[in-house]
Amino acid sequence: MGMQRLLLIVALAVVNRPLHIYGNLLVESSSSSVPKGYQVRSFRKVVNVKDYGARGDGDSYDNMAFTKAWKAACSSSTPVTLLVPAGSTYLLKPTTFFGPCKSAVVVTIKGTMLASARISDWNGTDRSYWILFNGVKNLTVKGGGIINGNGQVWWKISCKVDSSHECKVAPTALTFHSCNNLRVKNLRFKDSQQMHVSFSQCANVDVSSVTISAPGTSPNTDGVHVSGSINVMISNSIIRTGDDCLSIVGGSRAVTATNIVCGPGHGISIGSLGANGAEETVSDILVDTARLEGTTNGVRIKTWQGGKGYARNITFKNIVMDSVKNPIIIDQNYCDSTKPCSEKKSAVAISGVTYKNVRGTSATDVAVDFDCSRTVPCRGIVLQDINLVTANGVSSKSVCHNINLSKNGNFVP
Ligand SMILES: *[C@@H]1O[C@H](CO)[C@@H](O)[C@H](O)[C@H]1NC(C)=O
Ligand SMILES: *[C@@H]1O[C@H](CO)[C@@H](O)[C@H](O)[C@H]1NC(C)=O
Ligand SMILES: *[C@@H]1O[C@H](CO)[C@@H](O)[C@H](O)[C@H]1NC(C)=O
Ligand SMILES: *[C@@H]1O[C@H](CO)[C@@H](O)[C@H](O)[C@H]1NC(C)=O
Repeated sequence: MGMQRLLLIVALAVVNRPLHIYGNLLVESSSSSVPKGYQVRSFRKVVNVKDYGARGDGDSYDNMAFTKAWKAACSSSTPVTLLVPAGSTYLLKPTTFFGPCKSAVVVTIKGTMLASARISDWNGTDRSYWILFNGVKNLTVKGGGIINGNGQVWWKISCKVDSSHECKVAPTALTFHSCNNLRVKNLRFKDSQQMHVSFSQCANVDVSSVTISAPGTSPNTDGVHVSGSINVMISNSIIRTGDDCLSIVGGSRAVTATNIVCGPGHGISIGSLGANGAEETVSDILVDTARLEGTTNGVRIKTWQGGKGYARNITFKNIVMDSVKNPIIIDQNYCDSTKPCSEKKSAVAISGVTYKNVRGTSATDVAVDFDCSRTVPCRGIVLQDINLVTANGVSSKSVCHNINLSKNGNFVP
């Protein structure tokens, strides 16, 4: 019995009235059919994809059914749930759910959404997306189900895996673009084609209790990617992939991540910023309570030479590193390119970065590596209570270029 219902019964018992429960949800608007003094909220309307022809046999495409069901849900004038029932696997080609909708929509995914393994299903559509929510306000996506990107066919043709292939984008499994007031919770992501879940140009986003898993060798399979988004909270999530656990890039502000477990993968990353001379800004980032297990980086800020803009007011605190190759790293000479990057005058300015209570083990001798730009040095970098040792317990080293540091508390290295 839910706590709310229990409290209702207790409250009713106290005032000694007969007990009626109308629907399974409490208490919002009054209705004439209800005894005086009681209020009920009506049942939420439910739109079930199976009622719109979804087969859920994992073999025939269910796009048509999902598109029709979304249309019905999105045009509902009362709050509505789009239900993807449990016990079935829904095979889907690239699919877009457009807003705006008439009311708040909850998408409850209990079953498995499985991506088509035919790359040609993306012919004539944007290869960057598999499932896309575009321009939806007051959206919740939850339900405990699985989003399976079925990415193996895409990994094989990645230029990072096989250099004979051209470098081309592969789909992000789930993208939210231009969504305001968005909650994503209790979902499992698996084997995305490229990134697992991405937020672009969104505001007021709450992501919680998601688990993301893909092999450590899968290329570019970032866990959660945030770009151009404001007020984003990510909490209580476990992310094990082949690329960044969390990546926060240009135009993002007020992003908080708490209670995150990462690894394998490339760790928590701000950037890369400033590629091809771009002006980009990231600010007001807090990562509080994270555990990184066997990742190539711990907490990283990476910018290309020649960029403009800034990354500032960034705090990493209460972080545990478990055999991480570069636990703390700022790389202002980032160069993820087949050609070497030449030295440039401008750079994305990095300032106001605090590392507090970061401890654990480094898989290499250098636990702290600040490689800042000569022309735009890092400013206001604060280290407080850092304790990073190598796996055999020997104290590790730090490397600093073009940086002004202040240190507080205990500090190793
Ligand atoms: C979204 O929620 C806000 C605040 O509750 C409300 O004012 C607005 O009308 C809602 N819009 C939709 C489309 O549900
Ligand atoms: C998709 O495009 C590829 C490459 O352009 C082509 O070889 C293939 O025949 C196309 N498939 C379909 C189903 O259109
Ligand atoms: C810095 O970022 C934090 C969020 O991590 C925010 O609470 C604080 O207001 C920001 N400080 C400034 C000066 O903007
Ligand atoms: C560090 O600060 C000192 C004093 O404020 C200044 O002279 C020096 O140029 C700064 N170094 C860098 C790399 O910013």
